[in-house]
Amino acid sequence: MKQSHDIQQTINITPALMDRINELLGHYPADKRKSALLPILHDVQDAHDNWLSVELMDKVAEIIGIKPIEVYEVVSFYTMFNQRPIGKYMFEFCQTSCCATRGVEDLMDYTCSKLGVGVGQPTPDGMFEVRGVECLGACGYAPMMQLGDTYREHLTKEKIDQIIEDCKAGKVNLYYNAE
Ligand code: FES
Repeated sequence: MKQSHDIQQTINITPALMDRINELLGHYPADKRKSALLPILHDVQDAHDNWLSVELMDKVAEIIGIKPIEVYEVVSFYTMFNQRPIGKYMFEFCQTSCCATRGVEDLMDYTCSKLGVGVGQPTPDGMFEVRGVECLGACGYAPMMQLGDTYREHLTKEKIDQIIEDCKAGKVNLYYNAE
C-alpha cells in the first residue's frame, strides 16, 4: 500500500497539460479511459519534477475517473515512476547479465564515489542520483544506463566523467519533448 511522503508536492495541472491529458484520453473509447493511464502518468510526472506523490496520483485518478488504487498499483510496478523526489539527473544503470559481465558494478561504484553518495541516495543539492535497474533492452551496448529519456551506452569511467560534467553545465536534455 502507498505510504504518504513527508515532502509536499505542488500539484500544477496546467491548461497545456490538461489539453495533453484530454488528447491521450481521446485515443480510447469512453469506457476504456484507464488505457491512457501510462502515457498520462509519464507526462504528469515530467511536469512535476519527476515524481508522483499520493496526492498527485489521486488527482490523476480523479481526472481519468478511476480508483486511486488503480493508479498506485501501476506506479509501484514500474521503476520509471518515482514515488519520492529524486535527483534531477538519475543515472539508472542496468545490472542485468550483459551489463553485469561488462563491469557495470564497477561503474556504479565509481559514479557513487565520485558523487559522494550511495545507491538510491540523492546528492545533497538534489542534482544526481544513482540506481540499479533491470535489463533496459540495449544489451548489445553494455554496459549502459538510462538518463531521462536517453540511453548512454558502452560506458566507461571517462564517459561517466563527461556525462556528469555535461549535467553540471546544463547541457543534458532529459526528455525527448524538452524544448
Ligand atoms: S543486460 Fe543491460 S541492457 Fe540488457
